[in-house]
Amino acid sequence: MKIAVMGTGHVGLVTSVALASLGHRVVGTDVDGEKISLLKRGACPFYEPGLEEALRREMSAGRLAFTPEESDALRDAEAIFICVGTPARSNGEANLVAMESSARAIARHARDGVVVIEKSTVPAGTAERVRDTLARERSGFTFDVASNPEFLREGTALHDALEPDRIVIGVESGRARDVLRRLYGPLTERGHLLIETDIATAELAKHASNAFLALKISFANALARVCERAGADITAVAGIMGTDPRIGRAFLNAGLGYGGYCFPKDLIALERLAARLGYEFPLLREVERLNDEAVQVAAAKIEEVLWNLEDKRIALLGLSFKPGTDDVRLSPALALAGRLLSAGARVIGFDPRALANAKQELPELEVAGDAYEAARDAHCLVLATEWDEFGALDLDALREVMAYPIVVDARNALDPARCAAAGFAYYPMGRPPVLPDPSSASLAEGRREALVPTPEELTR
Ligand code: UGA
Repeated sequence: MKIAVMGTGHVGLVTSVALASLGHRVVGTDVDGEKISLLKRGACPFYEPGLEEALRREMSAGRLAFTPEESDALRDAEAIFICVGTPARSNGEANLVAMESSARAIARHARDGVVVIEKSTVPAGTAERVRDTLARERSGFTFDVASNPEFLREGTALHDALEPDRIVIGVESGRARDVLRRLYGPLTERGHLLIETDIATAELAKHASNAFLALKISFANALARVCERAGADITAVAGIMGTDPRIGRAFLNAGLGYGGYCFPKDLIALERLAARLGYEFPLLREVERLNDEAVQVAAAKIEEVLWNLEDKRIALLGLSFKPGTDDVRLSPALALAGRLLSAGARVIGFDPRALANAKQELPELEVAGDAYEAARDAHCLVLATEWDEFGALDLDALREVMAYPIVVDARNALDPARCAAAGFAYYPMGRPPVLPDPSSASLAEGRREALVPTPEELTR
């Protein structure tokens, strides 16, 4: 099938590559001409494991091309995916200006009978607006609108697109249903679940899924505060909860909270949508508050361990919003770095992929070429984003170069026993700290009390 994809960000580019690899002929377009010229050369504008290789493969097979001209991409397409950004406005509502301008471009250039599919995450009701715009902009235009939300995660995006847990299609006409069934035929033939529903339900299901996952994370983080006070271990508590299939273990990892381009904006966009529809949903604001609190707690913990932060050198490992990506948008690691910097600390960051983006986002951050360089003369090592490779660090070598042997594991990702064996005082989130030798045990007990920040400390 001939497909056009509007927008070549994470969702658009992964969708383009995935649909091409299912055998369709895909043309991607974007208002950002620089991105398109990169893509034409077979270069991916952001890091996503396996994506660049797949992009080149599909381009050389002749199934995937890019053009800066919307008209060229849209003219022959039987189906058009809108994958443009829907960023947050200052009041938290989704800004849908790019959705509208995509609809107008489609009305100008697309052929009659086209199926217009919204894949960007949008508030329920957006497809109706797209439909109105298409009809208003071109009289007599025949088209169908559908919703097909994307559930891919950065870092495993291509896998998620090609091995989806479920494909959700919101369709309200036979033609749209047929086109989407044909598009995803290669996946449904392999047994992947296709859920057909109405458009508003499909739109809402995406916001609801992201908001619920964010809620699980905030629940785990709030519970971590209780665990700290009770002397319990959040990792073990989450493990026990997770054995109940009604709860599930995923997304109960306490730490620094969620970040990235999706959860923060989608959670509040849902709260705003509900309010606009006349329903107050304050739980969602509370999820956001608890997420901010997670970073505050980590900062307070570091301050408590180090006494004064002024002129302390802190090595921050992991800067992206999660492992496996170079994306630093709303990264909790950078939020923590910002807090430490404004309290007078020097922060030396290292990340396997996100160094350049982090430096651009937070110029006061110093950066190092590897974890050992970041740790040199540091008073504290903070694990802020749990890249796998940090689990294999030579802890003895790290301790040797550091000024103080202190680790704050803000993602509960390091092995406490290994840290203690290497001579570190180890401070996790929502779990008891572990100190290196029994003679320091009383210190451990004393500190455990002290590490629980007071409400006053949190509002600083
Ligand atoms: C998320 C959803 O997982 C995808 O299903 C969705 O398609 C995507 O948003 C989107 O709307 O486009 P993503 O933002 O790539 O995907 O990242 P996640 O893996 O969901 O992680 C989000 C954040 O939660 C990260 O900062 C991560 O570190 C944090 N997290 C995750 C926790 O703090 N604890 C956990 O237990 C899990």
